Amino acid sequence: MLNQTSTDAPFDPAALHVPAELDASLRERQAWISPKFLYDPLGSRLFEAICELPEYYPTRTEAAIFDLHGAEIARTVGSGCTLIDLGAGNCAKAASLFPLLRPRQYVPVDISAEFLIDAVARLQQRFREIEMRPVGMDFSRDGWDLPDFVREERRLFFYPGSSIGNFTPEEAREFLQRVRARCGRDGGLLIGVDLAKDHAVLDAAYDDALGVTAAFNLNVLNHVNRLLGADFDIRQWRHRGFYNAAQGRIEMHLEARSAQTVSWHGASRRFEAGERIHTENSYKYRVDNAVRLLEEAGFAATRVWTDPREWFAVVHARAVAH
Ligand code: AVJ
Repeated sequence: MLNQTSTDAPFDPAALHVPAELDASLRERQAWISPKFLYDPLGSRLFEAICELPEYYPTRTEAAIFDLHGAEIARTVGSGCTLIDLGAGNCAKAASLFPLLRPRQYVPVDISAEFLIDAVARLQQRFREIEMRPVGMDFSRDGWDLPDFVREERRLFFYPGSSIGNFTPEEAREFLQRVRARCGRDGGLLIGVDLAKDHAVLDAAYDDALGVTAAFNLNVLNHVNRLLGADFDIRQWRHRGFYNAAQGRIEMHLEARSAQTVSWHGASRRFEAGERIHTENSYKYRVDNAVRLLEEAGFAATRVWTDPREWFAVVHARAVAH
């Protein structure tokens, strides 16, 4: 079953759990929606638009770090790896590193599998020498594993964009432990981590002037309507995105503009005016805390590259000391 070719429907064992998981999180006293549901096809495109916004610094800051330090990063990582791209999306970040890293096998992993397949088909034309094996999988859930076709030699897990920030620090440690356990002896992790900074910069990045982040957040309700057969009226909700300094994280919520009842598959819930659905956390780290988290997860020999303003960090960590 796992031994598929890249043109088959992607391996997607988690798809079955989705309605039950969403149903449960929407019924909790503090309703929430997992941020992974932000990435339906439209949501993935809205996220690409966010990355172009003047206020949203992480993507271009991370890219600048790779531009400046790419050669050194490539020397540190070594060539011919099995590149496992967690949350690959349009695969553009990994693809921009192909000439530097020269991976032998490329394994993009993403929950939005449709999006992935198109991206891989285009990429394979450009880089024929790299074996590409997309995997549709929800690695934000405990218990994930890689299909057998993923090469075991020289695995390099790639987790850019500070997606690690969506986990609480405790969840992040567990997730990184799991990655560490799948590295083998000669593997490692190349991860992007967004750093704590001026609160006004953070607030603007998650509540931009054009309202693209608002559209991205609100669109999760379109996705939930389809997944659950729910009847969220998007016009009755408003985007909230702000830095919570006490928790060291950005929070995104959807706030009800009026009292309303929302129904789905036999269930219904009343929301009061002003009541919020929590849709995302995005933790911001200090470099030392990020390194400690990696070491607690079993990684060693970390190397850190940052931009001049120290807004973002790219970290390489090995499965064993080197
Ligand atoms: C993809 C999780 C890194 O937290 O900055 C962007 C998602 N949310 N704007 C982030 C996001 C709102 C993004 N990550």
